Amino acid sequence: MSFPRDFLWGAATSSYQVEGGIEGNDWHLFTTTPALRRRVRILTSGRVALRPAGDAVGHRDLGVLRADLARAAGLGLNAYRFSLEWSRLQREPGAPLDAEAVGYYSAVVEACRDAGMTPIVTLNHFTLPAWALAPPGRGFRGSLRGWEDERIVDAFAGYAEQAVVALGPRVDRWLTINEPVGSVAAGYLAGLWPPGFVLAAGRARRALRNLARGHRRAYARIKRVAPAARVSFAHAVLHSRPLDGLVNWRFLDSVMPALDFVAINYYRAVRLPRGLHGDLGWPVSPAGLGRFLRAVHGRYGLPVLITENGLAEARDRIRAPYLVAHLEQVLGAIEAGVRVEGYLAWTLVDNYEWHQGYRQAARFGVFRIDAGARRLTEGALALRSVVASRRTEGAVRSFGTIDPGGRRLQPPARSAGRVWAGPVAGGRALHLSGDLDALLLLADGQTWVALRAVQWDPERRALSFTHDGRTYRAHAIGDRLAGDDWEAQLLWPAGAWHGDGVQPHFVLRWDGAHWTGTSFGAAWEPLRRVEWDGRTLRLETGDGTRFEGARAGGVVTGVRLAANGGRAAWRAARLPDGLAF
Ligand code: BGC
Repeated sequence: MSFPRDFLWGAATSSYQVEGGIEGNDWHLFTTTPALRRRVRILTSGRVALRPAGDAVGHRDLGVLRADLARAAGLGLNAYRFSLEWSRLQREPGAPLDAEAVGYYSAVVEACRDAGMTPIVTLNHFTLPAWALAPPGRGFRGSLRGWEDERIVDAFAGYAEQAVVALGPRVDRWLTINEPVGSVAAGYLAGLWPPGFVLAAGRARRALRNLARGHRRAYARIKRVAPAARVSFAHAVLHSRPLDGLVNWRFLDSVMPALDFVAINYYRAVRLPRGLHGDLGWPVSPAGLGRFLRAVHGRYGLPVLITENGLAEARDRIRAPYLVAHLEQVLGAIEAGVRVEGYLAWTLVDNYEWHQGYRQAARFGVFRIDAGARRLTEGALALRSVVASRRTEGAVRSFGTIDPGGRRLQPPARSAGRVWAGPVAGGRALHLSGDLDALLLLADGQTWVALRAVQWDPERRALSFTHDGRTYRAHAIGDRLAGDDWEAQLLWPAGAWHGDGVQPHFVLRWDGAHWTGTSFGAAWEPLRRVEWDGRTLRLETGDGTRFEGARAGGVVTGVRLAANGGRAAWRAARLPDGLAF
């Protein structure tokens, strides 16, 4: 069984998290008010230092956005979820939409279409215009007071209708609001998000009621102006038995039947006795996704779209197995008869993560951002592998997976492919997997594009592929790929390894600029150092153990130097990658 041909494969973002330059909303006021920042610091015992999004990742510049969409298209993605910034579109309650902002979002829709991606548009992803919600101390009473006040229901529905009229003809999938339950908990109970109330149960209840009304009214008005539009809201689901009714179902039930499909954001379990987690400490539970998909199907019989799923890590450790394990759950649900229409990864590029700001531990991007430059993650390659094959088996073998309960990592059983660096086809490097799926790193060093018509002739040891309308041919000679007027050198260590002694498994990767790696031993951790000079491989694990070895065939042999000075022989073998040469 495989994923359906018309499956939506995408990535998701939201306006405040990616655009940059947004200052007219509650989040900007909240994160720039000293008294509120102080309070949040105290509430979290100094752990949270609020800051505004500032320039975010620069998507306000359409050129930057288009380049990121091109990267996503290189992974084979065919959908992009983004949100409209209400504060940019409507300067005051009931006002007609700002023409410049409409122009920007129309251009974003065009950019999606140009990149071959279906736009999925969220009307309101957390942030409210300052006139709709100013935090206490910054004009709360003069604003509409956010979702706790009924006036916002009409304001939101009116804005939604105008937005759909403005962009409607080119967008047919809409999400009204994002994660109402979670945002009310963060803003009215925990006090970490605007408006910043702590344990204000009455306000929280009113806010939830108005969010449900806001959704229903917006749904009705959208349907009036765009009857063919497919409308939902993005609902955050948690894997937790005690919280199941309260968090997962109550709000969903309250908006029925005003949903054309169920859109779910799924990340985590609430608490597991032991098991895997990302760098924000969120417990991993792939089974929670599968279980919820089946339950939704049983309860409403509606199709489901997964509008967010992903893992936060400073450096790739278990991002790839996490994505693979969740995609296995999605496929399992499809096999069981659930109509799943698509899967959108959170998120396209590392971005602003709300109260976590730009903390390293809060990097969710399938593309990592390093000082502005975009780098491919192992997660991106795993996603590409599933999208290209429409199955999960190959990705399980090449990237590993996680058991449904989130307890154990199954390391990769083969290398994900080979990388040759050199002036390949006008680019800088070629990544080729055992399924003859090839990516070319363009000259910018940041964009990998998929190559077409990749063929390997084992007799002549000849590789050919097309790029930009031209056919390129090369011969494999030892570690080199020799083309007509170019030559690339195999980056031999890139791949999955199995060694003896401690830290038996590791994965080494080259992201277009640097070597990085992960070791899988008692714990799975990023390697502190990976170096390869063409002869000697040098690795260092988080605990200071160093490995140093020279290549002999498909093996490295050398020494392991423990941090306490202990010395032992070390041998590790690169797992095959399924390529015939
Ligand atoms: C939100 C995103 C957020 C992500 C990771 C979801 O709750 O919709 O805006 O960045 O989770 O925390």
